[in-house]
Amino acid sequence: MSGQELCEVPYHVAIVMDGNGRWAQRRKQPRIFGHKKGVEALRRIIECCGKHGVSILTLFAFSSENWRRPPAEVSGLQRLLFSSLVAEADSLVSNGVRLRVVGDLDPFGPDVVDMVQRTEHRTANNHKLELVIAVNYGGRWDIVSACRKLAIKVAEGNLSSDAIDERSVAEALSTSTLPDPDLCIRTGGEYRISNFLLWQLAYTELYFCEVLWPEFSEDDFVEALKWYATRQRRFGKTQE
Ligand code: FPP
Repeated sequence: MSGQELCEVPYHVAIVMDGNGRWAQRRKQPRIFGHKKGVEALRRIIECCGKHGVSILTLFAFSSENWRRPPAEVSGLQRLLFSSLVAEADSLVSNGVRLRVVGDLDPFGPDVVDMVQRTEHRTANNHKLELVIAVNYGGRWDIVSACRKLAIKVAEGNLSSDAIDERSVAEALSTSTLPDPDLCIRTGGEYRISNFLLWQLAYTELYFCEVLWPEFSEDDFVEALKWYATRQRRFGKTQE
C-alpha cells in the first residue's frame, strides 16, 4: 500500500502526536518510555514525508499546557526533545531537512535557544522537507503575541489600525512565511485541536485516528493521505 501513487498530496501536514503516555502505561512502563518510542515514530514519518512528496511537516511536540504534567514527565520530555534535536542535527543536514522551531523558548534558557538557532542556521539551505517543531506552543499564545506586535507598531506610528487585516495578522504569527496546513492528523483517538494552530487551521482538513502515536506506521500515514485526496476543499465557496 505504501508504494501507491497518490493523486493529490498535501503540501503541508501538521500532526498532534497523541497517545505516547497510554501506549507506555499499557505496557506498565513510565510515560517517558512512550515519548521515546514517539521519537522513533517521528523519524519514520519524516522519512515518509520525503517519500510521498509532503513539503512541510509541523509537529506539536510540547504545548503551553504540558507544563501542568508531573515535573518528572515535563523535565524528561524536554530533555528528550532537545537531546533528539542535537542527536539528529547532522542527519537533518545530510537529508535535506530544514528545521524551524516555533513557540516560546525563553523558559528553556539561552543554551537551548542558542542550540536551536544554530541548528536552524545549519539547515537553512535545505529544501527537501521543512520540519517545523512547535515547542511550548499554544495557538492562543501565538495570536496574543501577534496582537501585541501589531499594537506596538500602531503605538509607534508605524501601522494604522485600519490597515490591520488577515494578512498582517498572519505575518505577525510565529508561522509567518509558512502556508497554512492542508491536512492535520491527530492520533490517539481524541477529537479536538487542543490549542494547536488555531488561526492556521481555519480551512485545514482534519483527520483523526485511533492509533496511538508510537504505533503510527507508514501505512497509517498513507491512509491519511488517501483520505485527504478524497476531500473536496472549497474554502467557503460552493462547488461551482
Ligand atoms: C502526547 O502524548 C505527546 C506529547 C505531549 C509529546 C510528543 C513528543 C514527542 C513524540 C517527542 C518529540 C521530539 C522531537 C525531537 C520533536 P500523551 O503523553 O498526551 O499521551 P496520552 O494521551 O496517551 O497520555
